[in-house]
Amino acid sequence: MTPVHARIRSTGHCVPERVLTNQDLERMVTTSDEWIRDRTGIERRHIVSPGETNLDLCEKAARSALAAAGLEASDLDLILVATTTPNQVFPNMGVLLQERLGGHGYPCTSLEAACAGFIYGLAVANSLIQTGQAHRALVVGGETLSRITDYTDRSTCILFGDGAGAVILEAASEPGILSTHIHADGAYKDLLYYPSGISQGFDRLRESVDFIQMKGSEVFRVAVNTLSHLALETLEKAGVGCADLSWFVPHQANLRIIQAITRKLGLPLERVVLTIAEHGNTSTASIPMALDVAVRDGRIQRGQLLLFEAFGGGFTWGSALVRY
Ligand code: ACO
Repeated sequence: MTPVHARIRSTGHCVPERVLTNQDLERMVTTSDEWIRDRTGIERRHIVSPGETNLDLCEKAARSALAAAGLEASDLDLILVATTTPNQVFPNMGVLLQERLGGHGYPCTSLEAACAGFIYGLAVANSLIQTGQAHRALVVGGETLSRITDYTDRSTCILFGDGAGAVILEAASEPGILSTHIHADGAYKDLLYYPSGISQGFDRLRESVDFIQMKGSEVFRVAVNTLSHLALETLEKAGVGCADLSWFVPHQANLRIIQAITRKLGLPLERVVLTIAEHGNTSTASIPMALDVAVRDGRIQRGQLLLFEAFGGGFTWGSALVRY
């Protein structure tokens, strides 16, 4: 039997209209544009307006990917939405998105793996396509981290932004997704987390407004080591070198993390897709957003070799090697 592969058919992304600049943040907490740019590479981030939700962003990103492929929602047979900020606990975000787009009957779900969620989604969709359980999948990463960010805490509020990115994956005779690698280690659960959840009881949720908690410099150190190692492991298993990579599309958490990884890999920064200055850290949305930006401005071309990599709360981390 001819093996079935999955390839990226199209991409899309969406950011909210409202922009929060470093200068805006200077008026909210004790910080400076210079400190934020030096330590993170971020200049501005987009955040949702009152009443605007993650589902609104996911819908726009999904419609943009469908339009780019000339497809309708009825052409899909799987929706996966990676997010840590769903509109509601259930129905899941995949189902809510299917209802918005107008599809029926096929499986839809959401998955939560913090900033690595999109890579997890890609791995699951790739497996379902390879095993014949899906033919055409919409994989979305969407976040409204501004809803769980403390805008009086200068160590976190400068980092996060909102947005959504989408890809349509479909069955193909030639490999597109060459490999995916996903990992987790719960021993690090206290370094980066959001404390509230339904199962802890509604009283706690009603009484406290919880926010993202992060031990930034420790996260930074583990992220650099883990992602450098993972990149080498991913390339080695595929039998390719850094020189073969056309583009590295990393999770946009901090420019200094990305620079440290590329230094360890010996990869020039000119071959890295960087959107962090404009988007900030949009968690699981950041890779599909960056991918779509570089596809639409013509940097990423068909046939090129791409490496995606992400790291987030859990810790969770993962990579994907992709022939676009
Ligand atoms: N403006 C000015 N000074 C600040 C600010 C700020 N916004 N934030 C912190 N500082 C100060 C600190 O108080 C500290 O001052 P002190 O030396 O007087 O105590 C000093 O700057 C250094 O603080 P550090 O935390 O050591 O700064 P660092 O260089 O590590 O940068 C940062 C902080 C940007 C948060 C960095 O650690 C980072 O990016 N960490 C990783 C984030 C990440 O990758 N998260 C994972 C993905 S996110 C997810 O999963 C949702």
